[in-house]
Amino acid sequence: MSSLPPVGRLKWTDVPTPLRTRLETALGSTVVDAATPAGGFGHQLAAALTLASGRRVFVKAAPDDDPLTDANVHEANILDVLPPGAPAPELLGLHRAADWTAVVIAHLDGPHPDLSPASSDAGQTWALLDKLTSNPAPTAYTTAVVGTPSGAAGLHGWNVLLANPPGDLNPDVRHRLLELAELEAAWPALAHGDRIVHGDLRADNMVRDHDRGVTFVDWAHATTGPACIDAASLAPQLVLAGHAPADIARLLCDHPATAISPDTTTAFLAALTGHWHRNARKPAPPGAPDLRAYQHRAATAGMALLALRMH
Ligand SMILES: Nc1ncnc2c1ncn2[C@@H]1O[C@H](COP(=O)(O)OP(=O)(O)OP(=O)(O)O)[C@@H](O)[C@H]1O
Ligand SMILES: [Mg+2]
Repeated sequence: MSSLPPVGRLKWTDVPTPLRTRLETALGSTVVDAATPAGGFGHQLAAALTLASGRRVFVKAAPDDDPLTDANVHEANILDVLPPGAPAPELLGLHRAADWTAVVIAHLDGPHPDLSPASSDAGQTWALLDKLTSNPAPTAYTTAVVGTPSGAAGLHGWNVLLANPPGDLNPDVRHRLLELAELEAAWPALAHGDRIVHGDLRADNMVRDHDRGVTFVDWAHATTGPACIDAASLAPQLVLAGHAPADIARLLCDHPATAISPDTTTAFLAALTGHWHRNARKPAPPGAPDLRAYQHRAATAGMALLALRMH
């Protein structure tokens, strides 16, 4: 699963020696290899460490003045309070030294799931989402997310594009701009709920572990919200992976997480697609050269699904 590090990722050797020593002491063994998995857009250390003992662990680390440290600490808090059976790796520890923070997580062994129609991974992911959202989040989880603003609730973009439509906007999209902006405007009032929301569900935030099957990683954006958020986020990813939009639109109508709240699902999809459309047009942020091209593709996939839900 290891490969060349994505551009801009911090490496194990970038971590200050006191923190590396602290980790090796806590793990009871020295680190003999650090492999950066492909996937994701972040710049922090995110690496599978192999210890002299042969054991492997996964570590995320960044300087304390980097906002990603807050996100990593949030992820650690979440991993600690997810209900038993949740599709997530265990938290192994959180360590601070030399103004850096590292979160150590159980290592999952396997590739990203194959979300294409040729694989059963997508079906497994839908089933996991059904299970994850079928009950309200446990109290410990709800407590852990208090004070963490929901990234999903703030998604928008059509309002900005409506105010100043870009010249390259597809004509089909342009003539629906007002309707899209209205759907998106309904989203913030619908964005609340008591279910667990992973908040960033893509194939590169999942690992198909050899023993556990598909498992969700990167819980840094986890919050509570309506059951539909993760399922509706996954839907455009499946279109990007080669599924026919009509098949996925039908799935959204049938899946327990989305079927119960069709208006919320549509409003969320509109906000997410608007966010992609708007952000794809911005300059690339440092260290994430592929992000804008991805957002362009995702915006097209989201729009294909939305078109099937709009009248
Ligand atoms: N517990 C784990 N075991 C093995 N590999 C993992 C584990 N957690 C994450 N990964 C792999 O490492 C990659 C980066 O991890 P993660 O997504 O958590 O980091 P990130 O920096 O927050 O990502 P992003 O760039 O999406 O913000 C994932 O795409 C996945 O391939
Ligand atoms: Mg990630």
